[in-house]
Parts: sequence; structure tokens; C-alpha cells
Amino acid sequence: MSLFNFAVQKTIMHVPSPIVRYFAKDYVAGNSLDDAVRVCRELSAKGVESTLDILGEYITRKEQALPWKDECIKILQTIHDQKLTTANLSIKPSQMGLLLDYDFALQNLREVVAKAAELNGFVRIDMEDIDCNEPTIKIYEILRKEFPGHVGTALQSYMRNAHDHLEQMSNEPLNLRLVKGIFIVTRQQAWKDPELVTRNYVSLLERMFELGAYVGIATHDEVLYYEAQRLIRKFGLKRDQYEFQMLLGIDPELRDLIVSEGHRLRVYIPYGKEWLGYSRRRLLENPNIARAALGQMIRGKGGR
Ligand code: FDA
Repeated sequence: MSLFNFAVQKTIMHVPSPIVRYFAKDYVAGNSLDDAVRVCRELSAKGVESTLDILGEYITRKEQALPWKDECIKILQTIHDQKLTTANLSIKPSQMGLLLDYDFALQNLREVVAKAAELNGFVRIDMEDIDCNEPTIKIYEILRKEFPGHVGTALQSYMRNAHDHLEQMSNEPLNLRLVKGIFIVTRQQAWKDPELVTRNYVSLLERMFELGAYVGIATHDEVLYYEAQRLIRKFGLKRDQYEFQMLLGIDPELRDLIVSEGHRLRVYIPYGKEWLGYSRRRLLENPNIARAALGQMIRGKGGR
């Protein structure tokens, strides 16, 4: 890691929230589900699909999970009622209490996925930090047997054990989002060299295609777009056997390019009042914006 990136990582947590909000505003649809639905419709008009996410994570008391679970069910009902036919739900297991009580979180996630199955919808379980890794995979394994075709999860290519996790998954049809990984992890747990993370991404993607998985190829890295296209051709995949995924507010030009080249593309649309943790992670990924935010802080301007 460069000295600058190291310094940014250490400092970004101390940037005041108004400055974070100002610089990260493009990454979040707004405060309400209506805002997310509006963005979803705007993207849909351009041939872009969506996954909706209510921001909020790492709860500290079990009762905090219940309003989040209700909101997730409301998202699924809204997708159904408003006929947002290409939208689905992304959900964070720590928001459902995974780090407090595994059985409690499993039951909450089960209720959400059951609702998705009832409405012919789909739920993607995000992959969070290292403590969530194994239990998230375990929950995915249980729920995909109970609700086949209505649930997927994510794997992170920076993890040294990502291939092991993939091989451990059972034979039922797999639905996986593949990402590089964003949470802070040690060198023992994850590769730190960006080139190795990229190489492992390509090798995981190839193995997922070999296993017949439906993959959400989630990246804004054009090298990976190139490699994914190569593998899609190699495996002779049709348009409905994979999709690309990107985050709201990042590289709309690449997004439009992917769509114009005939691929399915889904955008992750976060909304809600708990935008701070998500927005800080996005700033960490983008040295230019992070530099500007830090500069603003040092100059003592609060932003809006
Ligand atoms: P990389 O970080 O190399 O970025 C490639 C290029 O994209 C950069 O050069 C820059 O131009 C642009 N870019 C990237 N981030 C930017 C930013 N914040 N602002 C502006 N430009 C930016 N992670 C995880 O651990 N668990 C998860 O469940 C998910 N879920 C998820 C869903 C979706 C749909 C996406 C796209 C990503 C995730 N992630 C995630 C995040 C993922 O792990 C990773 O941190 C980001 O996708 C950035 O990695 P890239 O592959 O884009 O490459």
C-alpha cells in the first residue's frame, strides 16, 4: 500500500460527516425508498437493471434488526407492486444481526427470502468483513436449498480462501456476485497486491463458469471487463447466463458502454439515512475524491 493510501485509510474515519456526505452524494440515491425507486426507473429507461439496498449495518442490539427486516420486506413488496421487473434486493447480514446471534440472523434472512420467493423476487446477501464470511456462506447454503432460485451471495477475490469457499459449496445451482472486496483485512487473510486480487478474480470467475454458476460480475475495472468478456466467449454463455454489476455513482460511461455492447448490467442502489459507513468505504476506494475530502477537512470547511 502506498504511503498516501495508508494515510487516507487512517484519516478518512475522522473526516466530519458533512464533508463525507458532500463528496459521496452521488453514491447514494437519497433518504427514502421513493428516492431509490425513482433512480431505479431512471436507470431502467436506459436498459439498466437494479438492486436496492437499505443502508444500515453492524447493529449492536438484536431489536435493531427488526425495522431493517421490515424495510427489506417492504422493498420486495414495492418491487412487486410497482412492477419494477428487473429490480431485486441486496441485504447485509450484519444488519440482520449476524454478529450477535447466528440463529436469529438466519431466521430474519429466511423471512426476507421467503417473501422474495412468494413474490417471485430475488435476494442477494452481501459479503461483509471477515467475521461474516463463513456464517454468510453457511446461511446461503441453507437458504438456497429452501428457496432455490431466489437467493444468492457474494465472494471476494482478495480473500486467500475464496477458492476453498467456492469448492465447498454444494452442487445445487450457484448464484454468486464476484467482487474484489472492500473491508479492511490482514495480509494473513487477504492478498494486498492489487494485481494478485485481479488475477484471483479472473481465476475465480473462470471456475464459477466451469461450475455453471450464474455470476454477477461486479466491478468497474476495465481489465476485468475485458477478461470477463473473454471468458463469456470461451464458455459460449448467452446473455441471460451472467450479468455485470456496478455501484451507483461510479463510471456511468463504462456502464453505458457495457449495456451498448449487449450485456445485462445491474446497478447497486443504496438509500437511507445510515449512509456514513457505506460512503466512507466508497471514498476509500477513490483516492482523488478522498484527497479532495481530506483537503476540505484540513482547510476547515464543513461542506454542506
Ligand atoms: P478498482 O477498485 O480497481 O476500481 C476500478 C476503477 O473504478 C478505478 O480505477 C476507478 O476509476 C473506479 N472506481 C472504483 N471505485 C470507485 C469509487 N468509489 N469512486 C469513483 N470511482 C471508483 N465488496 C464487498 O466486500 N462485499 C460486497 O458484497 C460487495 N458488493 C458489491 C456490489 C457491487 C454491485 C459492486 C460493483 C461492488 C461491490 N463491492 C462489494 C465492492 C467491491 O469489493 C470493490 O471494492 C469495488 O467494486 C471496487 O473494485 P473494482 O473491481 O471496481 O476495482
